[in-house]
Amino acid sequence: MERSVVQFTLFGLLLSLASTLPNKPSQFFKNVPPVFAQDDWDIYSFHINSTVTSRYATTVITSRVANRVDESKEIEFHVRIPKNAFISKFRMFIDGQVYDGVVKAKEQAQQQYTEAVSRGESAGLVSSVGRTLEEFKTSVTVAAHKKVTFELTYEELMKRTHGKYELQIHARPMQPVRDFKVIVDVHIQEEAGISFIDVKGGLSTKALANAITKTHIDKEAWVYFYPTVDQQKMCDSCSDQGMNGDLVIVYDVNRDNGLGHIKKSDGYFVHHFAPSDLPRVPKNVVFVIDQSGSMRGRKILQTRTALIHILNDLAEDDHFGLITFNATDINEAVLQGARMLNDHSREGSASILILLTDGDPTSGVTNLENIQSNVRQAIAGKFPLYCLGFGFDVDFKFLEKMSLQNNGVARRIYDDSDADLQLKGFYKEVATPLLTDVTMIYVGGTNLTQTNFSQYYNGSEIVVAGEITDNNIETSTPQVVAISSNRRILFSNPNETVESTQTVSDDRIQRVWAYLTVKQLLDKELQLSGPEKEKVKKEALELSLKYSFVTPLTSMVVTKPPGENTDVFHKPKEGETPQRRHLCSPHFSVILGTHGPIAGSPLFLPWTTIDSY
Ligand SMILES: *[C@@H]1O[C@H](CO)[C@@H](O)[C@H](O)[C@H]1NC(C)=O
Ligand SMILES: *[C@@H]1O[C@H](CO)[C@@H](O)[C@H](O)[C@H]1NC(C)=O
Ligand SMILES: *[C@@H]1O[C@H](CO)[C@@H](O)[C@H](O)[C@H]1NC(C)=O
Ligand SMILES: *[C@@H]1O[C@H](CO)[C@@H](O)[C@H](O)[C@H]1NC(C)=O
Ligand SMILES: *[C@@H]1O[C@H](CO)[C@@H](O)[C@H](O)[C@H]1NC(C)=O
Ligand SMILES: *[C@@H]1O[C@H](CO)[C@@H](O)[C@H](O)[C@H]1NC(C)=O
Repeated sequence: MERSVVQFTLFGLLLSLASTLPNKPSQFFKNVPPVFAQDDWDIYSFHINSTVTSRYATTVITSRVANRVDESKEIEFHVRIPKNAFISKFRMFIDGQVYDGVVKAKEQAQQQYTEAVSRGESAGLVSSVGRTLEEFKTSVTVAAHKKVTFELTYEELMKRTHGKYELQIHARPMQPVRDFKVIVDVHIQEEAGISFIDVKGGLSTKALANAITKTHIDKEAWVYFYPTVDQQKMCDSCSDQGMNGDLVIVYDVNRDNGLGHIKKSDGYFVHHFAPSDLPRVPKNVVFVIDQSGSMRGRKILQTRTALIHILNDLAEDDHFGLITFNATDINEAVLQGARMLNDHSREGSASILILLTDGDPTSGVTNLENIQSNVRQAIAGKFPLYCLGFGFDVDFKFLEKMSLQNNGVARRIYDDSDADLQLKGFYKEVATPLLTDVTMIYVGGTNLTQTNFSQYYNGSEIVVAGEITDNNIETSTPQVVAISSNRRILFSNPNETVESTQTVSDDRIQRVWAYLTVKQLLDKELQLSGPEKEKVKKEALELSLKYSFVTPLTSMVVTKPPGENTDVFHKPKEGETPQRRHLCSPHFSVILGTHGPIAGSPLFLPWTTIDSY
């Protein structure tokens, strides 16, 4: 009997190939003799404990494994975590010893890694899998009849989209587990309470649905998931190798339509602002669509399907523009879009520019920095630019930088059968602007995260965190100034009760602040260059180290028992595709993490026309 988990431990190359064939590794390895038999080792407990407070989730995955044979065995720990999360802790307990992961600056860890490689050792891996997850794997040698406990902690701030938060928990122990538990403890300390909570995902299907218990009492909710060994083989994606899938906890909190919720603790605060009882602001939306050769076929059909849906969804007072470009003169096409919005600006409306492309600029202005500077000048902060990169032939970093420079974000559209749904889903996020020019004001607050937002959309949320200087935020409650169509409005409530957590040692709000600050500094770093970039990078690095976050600037070094490899974990970069990974040495690509997207596809034809309607 073969088990894929076993074969993953063979060596790096096989490991990378196997990860590109997640469903059929055993077929691929048919000629490889199994290293372990079924009874060699046994996961006797696999436990996921997730606690959410103030939309900040801390998840601990604990796997306890026993070596059942008379000789030493290499035992693997292999889990998936959300891309948005930062790993903050990893430890192994072996025979009374604790091996703790230490977060270090990437360069420093890199040196340690290089030394390990020169000794012929391999290193630990974190790699991107699918759209939302990253894979963490490591292994350790365990003596005959001894046990090992792996414990991984990661943290993430839930992002509200389409009026809900989604906590994704991936459970794949790789073999049925006797005492399997997933405990999801959604604990929200909000005066307003939890408005609804649902459990979705592959692990909530078929017989597994019976393993879920959900309790919801006003401000608190619990989800327990205790499948039996038999149930573990019976979900949509489960097999004899046990469960493999997601549990997605979907919830939202009650809204007061005013200033929202402010929570403070230990000198830090976090403010969640998400009013929904406001009239929609009429919008002017211009789509700039790449219809070059590489978009031909399914991609353009899906784009058309999505656009038809979007057009049908427009309100009477919305304005819509469509610019298509054949070949990839992104510069001219985006400038044309900006011109269209500038020429037709309307008082009391919200303008939005959306670029969809599947390739790099290959004609007209092709210097990326020149394009960014031209676009920035043309937009001049007047409206956001959202860039959708279709597939993996785009320079996503370029799109990301250009979006961030213009108050927008970049999003990857995966070249898959549901691409039209992804496009519609993205559009829906920005379809209903409720406020423009939002300014969040905190008298007595310092080290604030972003406080100015060009637009606020229904179903989303603005989150600001900061430090409290005079420890007296009660007496100076926040204010929000914004524009709703033609009206300037002020959100302010002198009676707003600021929730205060009771426990003295609760650093959760501080960690929310640190998480948001690091994410925003990393975005800022992307936009800057020279000494400014270095300064922001240094700041982000210091915070990552202080809060023990594995970010793109840090790595986690795990020292194992004597005689074994030192593992170094890096956060993979967006755009590291499995296809690309197996083209080169897997360790090299993950550890260095420097692989940019594949440059200009030869399929692109020279720019010929720009059609505007
Ligand atoms: C889950 O984690 C929370 C927070 O650390 C802790 O209070 C709780 O006891 C844990 N639950 C279990 C079952 O370990
Ligand atoms: C905003 O969303 C809420 C809840 O989903 C809905 O009730 C409300 O009608 C929406 N507002 C507008 C202007 O569409
Ligand atoms: C794009 O350009 C190519 C080559 O010049 C041409 O064959 C094709 O018809 C053009 N497509 C559109 C939609 O204009
Ligand atoms: C917070 O702000 C103070 C000054 O108000 C500054 O000295 C300190 O370095 C800041 N801390 C961080 C982590 O930015
Ligand atoms: C935020 O917006 C306000 C008012 O529009 C402006 O005075 C302030 O300079 C802006 N702050 C930042 C950091 O952009
Ligand atoms: C604040 O409280 C006072 C007295 O309790 C009340 O009269 C007033 O309407 C409240 N204001 C708001 C904005 O809720």
